[in-house]
Amino acid sequence: MIEFNRRVEDIPAYPAADSYGYDGELVKLASNETPWAPLQVVQEAAAQAITTLNRYPDPDKSLMRRRIAERCDIAPGRVTVGNGSCEILLAAAEAMLEPGAEIVYAWPSFSMYPHLAAMSGARGVRVPLDGEGRHDLEAMAAEVNHATRIVLICNPNNPTATAVGVDALDAFLEKIPRSVCVILDEAYVEFSLAQDPDESLDLLRRHSNLVVLRTFSKIYGLCGLRAGYALGSEQFRLAVDRVRQPFSVNAPAQAAAAEAIRHTDEVARRVELTAVERLHVESELAERGLETTESQANFSWVALGERDEAEVVSGLEGLGVIVRAGSALGEEGRLRVTYGTRAENDRFLSALDEQL
Ligand SMILES: Cc1ncc(COP(=O)(O)O)c(C=O)c1O
Repeated sequence: MIEFNRRVEDIPAYPAADSYGYDGELVKLASNETPWAPLQVVQEAAAQAITTLNRYPDPDKSLMRRRIAERCDIAPGRVTVGNGSCEILLAAAEAMLEPGAEIVYAWPSFSMYPHLAAMSGARGVRVPLDGEGRHDLEAMAAEVNHATRIVLICNPNNPTATAVGVDALDAFLEKIPRSVCVILDEAYVEFSLAQDPDESLDLLRRHSNLVVLRTFSKIYGLCGLRAGYALGSEQFRLAVDRVRQPFSVNAPAQAAAAEAIRHTDEVARRVELTAVERLHVESELAERGLETTESQANFSWVALGERDEAEVVSGLEGLGVIVRAGSALGEEGRLRVTYGTRAENDRFLSALDEQL
């Protein structure tokens, strides 16, 4: 038997999401994807890059970084790009954590966060969300000590979809020593109606230890290509670049992301469509007596009350509607459902009716 690093056992496995024993067309509402295909010009940019796949991709990711820098009004040297934003998270952990160090994050939050502690041997400090499913920033600040290297804030939070305001984040950052890296994971920020995504970029001007993490997987609909980015210090980018392989972002992903970020009108259109579906799904759930947290994302976090979570989730699966069980995300008695098209959302709602 080959021997593995003992830490491997501590790393949670990602839930399998492929075959559900359903013959018809599946409605996939479990991974917070968006229902729209990439824009034609974005597809063309990726297709063009395919013609030169005999060459390694640009290790500097120059065009992609420059376009992101232009959009976010920041120096290109402060833009780190990755094979999905997850790669940047894992590389940040590799660059900053070690046994004896600590990483603080809220819980329930993004399922990837426990990996950071587990793979590095650092101590993961989980701070419970408040009663409304929001980050308890005061309690998180209280957990920061001389061993803390990273604080993760997921805003809007996955899986609860709740958001804290930029002023609260600013006040929180004031309390954190400059030697501690605060990673603000904004995978869903574009969907928020409570915040202009550009507002948190202002925080970068005031807090040198802040890293704003974003992705092309959600509003830009490019999760299949894997592309994400972080805005922070140049020092952060150089450290992340040292610990991972140089060609991590493939050429079609670089080209597609560089094109996608130019289409701000399309982003605005998708935000609007999502807001309409959010309203629809949430009001339908409320009519069925099901409570949700206040969503600023492209999904709802639904309390199932006395109902058996596993039964509801597998009942939905039996009807071809795939959602994520709360117990897989840190809280039992819930489900997380992503908004799809109107037809998909209505299929979810009518399949849900059969479980209630
Ligand atoms: C909070 C959060 N951060 C990051 C990611 C990862 O995105 P990427 O596809 O860019 O790795 C996700 C994906 O679901 C997420 O929910």
